[in-house]
Amino acid sequence: MYTQLAVLALAIGGMTIATAATNKADFGKTKEGAPVQIFTLTNAKGMEAKIMTYGGIVVSLKAPDRKGAMADIVLGQGSLKAYEENNGPYLGALIGRYGNRIGHARFNLDGKEYILEKNDGENTLHGGAHGFNTKVWTPKVLPDGGLELTYVSKDGEGGYPGTLTLVVVYRLTDSNELKIDYAATTDKTTVVNPTNHSYFNLKGEGNGDILDHLVTLYADRFTPVDAGLIPTGELKPVKGTPFDFTKPTAIGARIEQNDEQLKLGKGYDHNWVLNSGGGKLALAAKVEETTTGRVMEVLTTEPGIQFYTGNFLDGSITGKGGKVYARRNGLALETQHFPDSPNKPKFPTTTLLPGQKFQSETVYRFSAH
Ligand code: GLA
Repeated sequence: MYTQLAVLALAIGGMTIATAATNKADFGKTKEGAPVQIFTLTNAKGMEAKIMTYGGIVVSLKAPDRKGAMADIVLGQGSLKAYEENNGPYLGALIGRYGNRIGHARFNLDGKEYILEKNDGENTLHGGAHGFNTKVWTPKVLPDGGLELTYVSKDGEGGYPGTLTLVVVYRLTDSNELKIDYAATTDKTTVVNPTNHSYFNLKGEGNGDILDHLVTLYADRFTPVDAGLIPTGELKPVKGTPFDFTKPTAIGARIEQNDEQLKLGKGYDHNWVLNSGGGKLALAAKVEETTTGRVMEVLTTEPGIQFYTGNFLDGSITGKGGKVYARRNGLALETQHFPDSPNKPKFPTTTLLPGQKFQSETVYRFSAH
């Protein structure tokens, strides 16, 4: 019985995971002269994802509307140079070693204090000023068409202990899913919390704000923050607050309410505590856009999700299609462990020991109705 199930699972896996083609092209050189490639993943349904080795950035992602018309539904830029000069918002990037903030840019591990780079006031954000989003990753196309990207972060880089090897695999399945697998190992006790920072606009990038997108978050609690956007440690019920997305709700419906947490985040920029508890692949979020009919579901094995409404997009980036990205023109759903976990012993741990393997999976699934 066990063997039959395994074979069945493989067969199903074979059907869903197969990617029709993965092509490679040069995408220029970094300022330091390192060559960068861009890979195009396509599936049998005509979806297409372009991902480059610099930052592991998802540069474009085409998904169908209810009539089957494709649009690029992620924010991105037209050249490597543009990303190198200004990717303050982390458009499409892989984030590491630690996604989101660590308070006062420091933490203790095994009785030792580690000092990180302050790149967000007193705090560290997304791994510091030279996070994994700025590194050139080593690519490998897998037999099933998946794109594997590896980055080895040296002991002490960004202030973090241990040489960390992070392997990320992107797959575009024939079920219209962009699937991301993360695996990490270390040679010294460290902390790790990788994610992807794509901004979505289901009307198509550059087509205005996301305030009319309907969002569902499968989470009854969130982690309120202080003025530096560091969690207070409380897991607060969303019921009766503008943070209740347990039913599909337009992002703009309550975003300007006179609510302390909304004011601190300048909108939504918070971590929700997923009801799944993490550890198994489960639905975390759903986004619906009624004019095009596009729907995106986010599934993850992570315990948390950062729902960020692009509050800091300020018009300083002109996207790949020639349109300016203004405030709230995209939304991010970053699957993750909770911010500041290294300083919050009650949060699910982000500590990784030598000999252990960190593994997580996130799926962005697209459909239209
Ligand atoms: C995360 C943070 C935000 C912001 C963006 C990038 O979502 O929580 O505060 O830093 O990344 O601009």
